Amino acid sequence: MDQPQKQFSLHFTGVAAMTAMLAAAMLAAGMVSARASAAEGVPRGLPAITEPAENPSTPEKIELGKQLYFDPRLSEDATISCASCHDPAKGYSNAEQFATGVGGKKGGRNSPTIINSAYNRFHFWDGRADSLEEQALGPIQNPIEMKMSLDGVVERLNKIEGYQKQFQKVFGTDVTSEGIGKAIAAFERTILAGDAPYDAYQEGEKDALSESAQRGMTLFFGKGHCSACHSGPNFTDNAFHNIGVGMDAKDVDKGRQVVSKLEGDSGSFKTPTLRDISRTAPYMHDGSMKTLSEVVEHYNKGGIQNPYLDEEIFPLNLTQQEKDDLVKFLEEGLTSRQYPDVKKPELPE
Ligand code: HEC
Ligand code: HEC
Repeated sequence: MDQPQKQFSLHFTGVAAMTAMLAAAMLAAGMVSARASAAEGVPRGLPAITEPAENPSTPEKIELGKQLYFDPRLSEDATISCASCHDPAKGYSNAEQFATGVGGKKGGRNSPTIINSAYNRFHFWDGRADSLEEQALGPIQNPIEMKMSLDGVVERLNKIEGYQKQFQKVFGTDVTSEGIGKAIAAFERTILAGDAPYDAYQEGEKDALSESAQRGMTLFFGKGHCSACHSGPNFTDNAFHNIGVGMDAKDVDKGRQVVSKLEGDSGSFKTPTLRDISRTAPYMHDGSMKTLSEVVEHYNKGGIQNPYLDEEIFPLNLTQQEKDDLVKFLEEGLTSRQYPDVKKPELPE
């Protein structure tokens, strides 16, 4: 399917330059509009944000999206908001193995963080949504998440004067489902985490990382083989891989295969970002690993053997010291120094 990056060297500038070139090409093709350059507003270490030409951000739209994101009235019984499962206090995930929706219903997948989802090419563990605008309308209607019909949520929000006024101002219409998706997406594009000790180190601050984290970084890009998939400024190749997680379950989650219909994608999931990874335990699509040490041990043994296992997954033969250093790099090196700790805003009446 996808070509994992094969180099093991510290090749950061190359990746950043490629990302910038790609963004420039997309801009030239009129596919996207750039909101911010690396110089204005985007945390250190991250490339400029691109957004769909039909949904340019404005401060009013972002503010509206923030209210919608935190508003439980988007769910059937007005108990669950986006923030219930993507909670800023919990790394924009929910600290549980599985998400719990309306009526205490549990799904079968772990809540991924929405940090840096602005950079994602695909959304959901299996990549079934192409844009944040499209993605946002999914959970509202999902019977085990917010369980509302789009008509129902539009009708309910149209009765709230504060929303009606804001939609008129931002979109020139009453509340529409399209507007809900656009406003929430615009807000999500502001949830960015960069400026970690790793970024400072890259820019020459050699004491930004402890010695253990520096050794861990060398392992990450070398013997540990992690950057074969967790590559680029957001530590993801935006591709799908079977890394041998959950393949021994009674009812195996086929992941990407359900979307692509390709046999070879069986048990493949999207490579997640590793930025602020220490905040979002438990880990993996099935929330099966409680700690980063467990994750590293998983890779060290080469994952669970299965016919679809990615060729980049194999036993690493790391020493205990190397495993500890790798964990240290993930925890210390990739934790943002300016975490986007958004508080619940006042909701309109
Ligand atoms: C009941 C818990 C729950 C609620 C409520 C919820 N989500 Fe999610 N969210 C999840 C789970 C679980 C996934 C992963 C599902 C999958 O991959 O199949 C997910 C995936 C996502 C993703 C994709 C992230 C990625 O890296 O692929 C985004 C973005 C997102 N949700 C935003 C939202 C927004 C916006 C709302 C509110 C409109 C919302 N979620 C409400 C649990 C929830
Ligand atoms: C072959 C590609 C590939 C390689 C190599 C790889 N990863 Fe991953 N990583 C993934 C994918 C795909 C997932 C999600 C898998 C799933 O949920 O089933 C993942 C998940 C993770 C997670 C959990 C993230 C979360 O939000 O739940 C961590 C942590 C992680 N990887 C760290 C590492 C480290 C450390 C290494 C090197 C030792 C590494 N990865 C090597 C592709 C890879």
